[in-house]
Amino acid sequence: MSIKKKLFGTLSDGSEVYSYTLRNRSGMKVKIMSLGGAVMQIKVPDRNGCFADVVGGYDSLDSYVGGDGYQGALIGRFGNRIAGGTFTLDGVKYTLAVNNGKNHLHGGDAGFDSKVWSVAERDSDEPELVLNYVSPDGEEGYPGRLDVTVTYKLSADNALSIIYRAETDKKTIINLTNHSYFNLAGYADGDILDHELYLDADSYLPTDETLIPTGELRSVEGTPFDFREPKKIGRDFYADDPALKCAGGYDHCFNFRGGETDTPVKRAELYDAESGRAMEVFTDQPCVQVYTGNFLNNEKFPFKNGFKQRPQSFVCLETQHMPDSINHENFTDCVLNAGEVYDYTTIYKFSVR
Ligand code: GAL
Repeated sequence: MSIKKKLFGTLSDGSEVYSYTLRNRSGMKVKIMSLGGAVMQIKVPDRNGCFADVVGGYDSLDSYVGGDGYQGALIGRFGNRIAGGTFTLDGVKYTLAVNNGKNHLHGGDAGFDSKVWSVAERDSDEPELVLNYVSPDGEEGYPGRLDVTVTYKLSADNALSIIYRAETDKKTIINLTNHSYFNLAGYADGDILDHELYLDADSYLPTDETLIPTGELRSVEGTPFDFREPKKIGRDFYADDPALKCAGGYDHCFNFRGGETDTPVKRAELYDAESGRAMEVFTDQPCVQVYTGNFLNNEKFPFKNGFKQRPQSFVCLETQHMPDSINHENFTDCVLNAGEVYDYTTIYKFSVR
């Protein structure tokens, strides 16, 4: 058996939350829970064969419920921000929860990260978990009943695939992603400014001070946002750049060259020279939000093993469509019609060098 199911805790409404540990032949382990479909643990070897857990998270269910930051969770219906929490579709104005300053963030007050997903196990040498959540019409203000299935698959080559599929019964908007926080040296090991990052992105979206894109697609050329050749995240982190200062670090949508693809292609790579661990990101999505954990400072909710929250101790690579895209004609299309299938795949593949 390569999937182990365990009761993780019970929510205040009595629902039980289970964790599922997937293991492949080379010993890589990924732990995922039914609350928020969150990735709680990814254990991969370094170049000497020593395993470490390379994602952020908490020890207790209470912390996952009370803590912020969307640790490891599935995000929906709309990942990232929507300005003022409003948008118009076919002449109808929709009003969403405003849960981040004056904007809507990551699906609202009770986004997909806070839902208990139903989980089906497909055990084999390459174990899979199939998670399902049906969001009723009008939930958090969004139109349409949205039926979402997310499959996590751990392959023999140390790749974790996340396959997102959704269907609606009414025209709606959608932008699903996963909010895992990575530190390839291990979750307890300092900051990620020494990690090297490669991004196949030739432009990014500058934002206002509330982190809403201004509408401009700005070339990365000659800016701290140019990761087309791998460079340390910290190299230009403190550069005198208004877009970087405005967000308090990297917290921007990067647009992949040529936009979305039919099948996943390599778009990013993270590398920690000290441990030798590398993580390639393959996706068919058009963009990635690179977030260097600038808001990680909540003292009330220490991470696993009591580690204090610290900014820049992790980096998120959230593949997605452009934030606030419904309010910008020149942005990627986030509309899903009844009868269509939303279908994207992102693969985080671990190796050493
Ligand atoms: C990220 C977002 C950040 C912050 C974070 C959650 O996806 O880009 O600005 O909101 O989620 O704390």
